[in-house]
Order: sequence, then structure tokens, then C-alpha cells
Amino acid sequence: MSEYRLPDFIKARKRGPYQAPIIREALKLNDVQKSLGRDLFYHVITYGCQANVRDGEVIAGILEEMGYTHTEELGEADIIILNTCAIRDNAEKRVMGEIGFLQNYKRMKPSMILGLCGCMAQEEVVVKRILKSYPVVDLIFGTHNLYELPAMIERIIVDNQKAVSVYSYQGSIFEDMPSVRSLPHKASVMIMDGCDKFCTYCIVPYTRGQQRSRLAEDVIKEVIELRDNGYKEVTLLGQNVNAYGKDIPDNGDFGYLLKKVAETGIERIRFTTSHPWDFTKEMVDAIADYDNIMPFVHLPLQSGNDEILRRMGRRYTSQQYRELFDTLKERVRDVAISTDIIVGFPGETEEQFLDTLKMVEYCKYDNAYSFVFSPRPGTPAAKMEDNEELEVKKERLYRLNDRLGYYSKINNEKWVGKTVKVLLDGPSKNNPEVFCGYTPQQKLVNFTLKEGKVGDIIDVRITEAKKNSLNGEQI
Ligand code: 5AD
Ligand code: SF4
Repeated sequence: MSEYRLPDFIKARKRGPYQAPIIREALKLNDVQKSLGRDLFYHVITYGCQANVRDGEVIAGILEEMGYTHTEELGEADIIILNTCAIRDNAEKRVMGEIGFLQNYKRMKPSMILGLCGCMAQEEVVVKRILKSYPVVDLIFGTHNLYELPAMIERIIVDNQKAVSVYSYQGSIFEDMPSVRSLPHKASVMIMDGCDKFCTYCIVPYTRGQQRSRLAEDVIKEVIELRDNGYKEVTLLGQNVNAYGKDIPDNGDFGYLLKKVAETGIERIRFTTSHPWDFTKEMVDAIADYDNIMPFVHLPLQSGNDEILRRMGRRYTSQQYRELFDTLKERVRDVAISTDIIVGFPGETEEQFLDTLKMVEYCKYDNAYSFVFSPRPGTPAAKMEDNEELEVKKERLYRLNDRLGYYSKINNEKWVGKTVKVLLDGPSKNNPEVFCGYTPQQKLVNFTLKEGKVGDIIDVRITEAKKNSLNGEQI
């Protein structure tokens, strides 16, 4: 195994004052690499968060630079890349199942390259297991070295060898990477990568490295280019966007960045994910003051109980969360707020869970993602004593979802009879006669369209509210 560069969680944990190097034009292809993919097809399967989706776009960009063409047909693909997520055990199980399934394609076409990258590739245990039990995987690279992909593919095709290279270190910032954007009217813009919060349950600080913010000028340049190319909406992405800029001097924080991006005049700006601890009053003001910053905030709560929050390492109390929540509701007109909640954290009692339910009754979220705690190897929470049965945790999740669903519906009902501005995404998945798009509050609307094209902002009158969407008609 010595010829491989394997991940190492001890190195990944290293933190200290760090300003990441900015690497411009990291992708340099030699003549062989530029034509390796000629007449060949690629397919990228992405799991997980929006940062991973954005990485998938960059991977597609690199493969196209090598001459590969995209295909939707797995059987036609000469290279399939699984861009994975490690946030919970079930995400990992799905990928392992998918590798098993893709073995069949490899049997039919032995020259096909099967690659794995993303957060799972950053985990020592996973990579060792794949090398031992899944010889069909030819290529493994991590979240820090997408730029090495051409050299790794060359090694596989020309030298007929496996290529495994994963770095566990703080990380760099890569500018000017090629990418194939998935949509013509909505784009994600990474403003930072990595996370230094080390919430005790979370694997992200280990798999994505230390927090690294891009320079404000580079972010703004990208937004202006997108605007000039007809994009209507950008989503500013980071594991903890409110901490943006704290790692670079003389740059400005997230409040500053929001204002600068708003001043580009791009039609719609979104951002995710927020951390309550780093959310300042100036950031709330920016969201309130600019019409093109959408009134929607994803504000993970995780738990409503102070002791559990403390053991999760979240750095805020339920009272502090409520105060921020109230400020957002007061300052930002018609703001919609969504959240993430974990039930069954090690040692969570029924009473502590009831505190989470109380917070849900208080906040009446527009939308929420809820999870049963999943121990991630190498994180502090995975070692905490946990005597609760899975059945009890699932029952808590069920009760929680019941209340979350109730409030989603109630919030959606407020929109019935009103006219809202919907950014048209295109025909809906289930029915090509019906069109869909999102309101400023990030509510999905299915509606009948009289006239308009993808990327237009359409006035839609809401006629019906469901739990997860609205129905309406163009006026
Ligand atoms: N178990 C369950 N849920 C988790 N999340 C993160 N780590 C875990 C874990 N180990 C949830 C958090 C986070 C969301 C992206 O995933 O709620 O906000
Ligand atoms: Fe994970 Fe916490 Fe960082 Fe979010 S803020 S990515 S939950 S460590």
C-alpha cells in the first residue's frame, strides 16, 4: 500500500493560526492528458451537500478539459466517479451499495475506470476497507486534490496502475478551476471551504480541512461573471458562512461580503449554511437592507436543550438562539427560517428531547431537516456513552417530524391567495405540463405557465398549500 497516499485523521485534526495559500491555475495538463478522454464518456454521481455538488461541477470541468464527454448512460461511461458524503452512516452505506452495483458495469466493460472521491475518501477506515474489499475501485482522491485528477487518470490508463491519493492537511484555496455548471440560471459560489467549529458529532472539519475563505475580490469577480452570463441567482456556499473572512486579514467579514455581492445587482442572492454563533447584527442588517438578498435563512438548531448543546460543542444556548431568531423575524420582512435537528445525541433524555420540541413550537420553522444521531468514527461524540435504544430515537424522530410537518403546512398556508415572484426552473419532474420554481422564501411552487422561459421571474398566484410545496397559476 506504500505507493498510495492515504488519509490520516491525526493530521486532519491539526489546527492553529492558518492562512491558506491561494493557488491560481493549479490545473496544468500535459499533451497526453489533454487528449486522454477523446471519444470517451464520463458520468459523475454526487451525494450530499451543495459544496459537494459544486465539487462535482469542477470534476466535470476537469474531465471535459481532458476531452471526455458527459453521458447519462452508465453503460456508455468510460469513467464513473462517485463523489461521496460522510455526514451520516446511511450516506456511506448507500455508496458502498452503489459500488457493488457498478461492479456489473465494470464486468461488462473492464476498461471502465471507477473512481471515488469526496468526504468518504478523506476517511482512513473507508479507504482501507475499499482497497481491501473492493478491487473494482481504480481511483481514489480526496477533497483537497481535484487538480491531480488528470495525472491520476494518466497513471491508470497509460501505466495500468491504481491511483490513490488523499491529503489530510489544512488545505489550500484553488482559483480558476474549470467547471461545468449544472444549471443555466442558478449557480453556487463557494466562498469558503472547511470548518473549525468541531461540533462533537460532525466529521466535516476532518474531511474538508481548516476553514479557508476566498478573497472577497475573487468571490465578487465570479458573481459579476455569472451575472454577465445571464445567471439570475447565486448561492454563497460554505460550511459556516457567518465565519467567512475570519481567517484572512484586511478582507471584511460575511456582512461585508453580502453587501458587496448585493451591490453587483445580481437578481437573487442566497447563502448557506449559517451558524448561530457567528451571526452578527451587521449580517442581519445586510439581509434586511438589500432587496436582492433573499429573505430565507437556514439556521441549524441541532437541539433545544442547553446541556446537549454544550456537549455538542455548539457554543450557544437555546436563549441565545431564540434571540437571534427573534431579531431575524423582526428585522427581515417575511423571512422564512429552516433548520437542522439531531435527535438521540448520546445521553439525550426524554426531558431534553422535549426541550427540542418546545423550541420547534416556539420557532414554527418553515422547513426542517431532522436526523437520528449517527456516530462518526474519530469524532468525540462517537466515544460518548450512549445507552438509548435506536427504537426510542426513531420514535422521537417521528414525533419531531410530526410537529415540523405541521408548521411547514401552516406556514405555507399563509401564502394562499397571495401573488409571489417565482424564478422559473422549468417543467416539474413528475408532470411536464406543470412548471416549477422557488419564491424568495425558498418555497417550491408548482404552477401553470402561460408564458416564460427558464430563468424568468414570474408572478404566480398561490392557490393551494401542501406540506412541502405550493400550487399556483401564472397571472
Ligand atoms: N449524525 C446525525 N446528523 C448529523 N449532522 C451532522 N453530523 C451528524 C451526525 N453525526 C446533521 C446536522 C447538520 C446536518 C448537515 O447534518 O444537523 O446540520
Ligand atoms: Fe459540522 Fe458544526 Fe462545522 Fe456545521 S459548524 S460543518 S455541524 S462542525
